[in-house]
Amino acid sequence: MALFGKNLGIDLGTVNTLICEGGEIVLHEPTVVAVDIEELKIVEVGQAARDMDGRVPEAIEVMRPLRDGVIADFEITHRMLGYFLERVCGPTRLFKPRLMMTIPYGVTSVESRAVHEAALQAGSREVFLIQEPLAAAIGVGLPVSTPSGNLVVNLGGGVTQAAVLSLGGIVAADTVRMGGIRLDEAIASYVRKKYGLIIGPRTAEEAKVRVGSAIPQDEEQSMEIQGQDQVTGLPRMITLTTSEVVEALQEALHLQTAAIRNVLERIPPELASDIMDRGMVICGGGALLRGIDKWITRETGVASYVAEDPVNCTAIGALRGLGMLDKLRRVLPSV
Ligand SMILES: Nc1ncnc2c1ncn2[C@@H]1O[C@H](COP(=O)(O)OP(=O)(O)OP(=O)(O)O)[C@@H](O)[C@H]1O
Ligand SMILES: [Mg+2]
Repeated sequence: MALFGKNLGIDLGTVNTLICEGGEIVLHEPTVVAVDIEELKIVEVGQAARDMDGRVPEAIEVMRPLRDGVIADFEITHRMLGYFLERVCGPTRLFKPRLMMTIPYGVTSVESRAVHEAALQAGSREVFLIQEPLAAAIGVGLPVSTPSGNLVVNLGGGVTQAAVLSLGGIVAADTVRMGGIRLDEAIASYVRKKYGLIIGPRTAEEAKVRVGSAIPQDEEQSMEIQGQDQVTGLPRMITLTTSEVVEALQEALHLQTAAIRNVLERIPPELASDIMDRGMVICGGGALLRGIDKWITRETGVASYVAEDPVNCTAIGALRGLGMLDKLRRVLPSV
């Protein structure tokens, strides 16, 4: 097999890129690149690039080449993918891999062609595309090929997707181009308004992950966060509590979960009872927000539960999809 190159499932996300090989996650890196803008050279990729954020000289820009789930900078994306592939496959020119790449549901054909082309230019032999919610459902192990209805919600960093699947394909779906990054912005804006303190996106994300929740918790947590006073410009510290983060997140959570409400309104009647019986499965990094399952259940009236492996299931499902091409070919996006 090595002679023909590896089979890989790749979840190319706005915030994280994951590569699955042989059922294992072999790469999990932030979708971040540090670029020397004077020499137009990539300095670092992935976690090493993310760690440079905010600590680099002016000539170096730390950037995310994807925005809202789609490629915003083609050149940087294909070079970043090239680095990741080389890490997993060695010199890819000798043994080019075969890839199944995820794309968000509902992107334009120009946007999906860009992913296809970036993967080819990064050094792969053959590239297939799969809609992220379908890959997630396969990775979770839902019976997607049967005529029963299954609802999958993917809470990513840049996009939120909800899809009803049946007979191997998507029968109703909706995408909202916002996700966890917007939740971080909501926390930053809350802190600015309430405390007159400016905090960076990483601090806001840390607050979300460490003390955040979608619903009030019995056990209130708190953390000290450092920012810059809006008036004096001097550094200042405040204490942020779980209930404050809950309050900060409500409006953005409503916008984010509009995708779920839209899909629930459009479920074909034949599948509605399946969905009511089984509920929906939540995946993506946003599934790790405390209380998100209860919040979604309360807001939609449909039972929801977090997938067992919400962060990895999409890359795992993408790879499995490569082994199911005969069944899937007619439902995969063409390029
Ligand atoms: N414990 C946690 N609580 C809340 N949010 C979390 C937690 N862990 C990760 N996240 C959020 O999950 C998001 C990243 O999720 P994921 O890796 O699924 O996104 P992505 O696939 O890169 O993006 P997309 O699919 O939207 O293009 C980030 O916004 C991150 O802050
Ligand atoms: Mg994703």
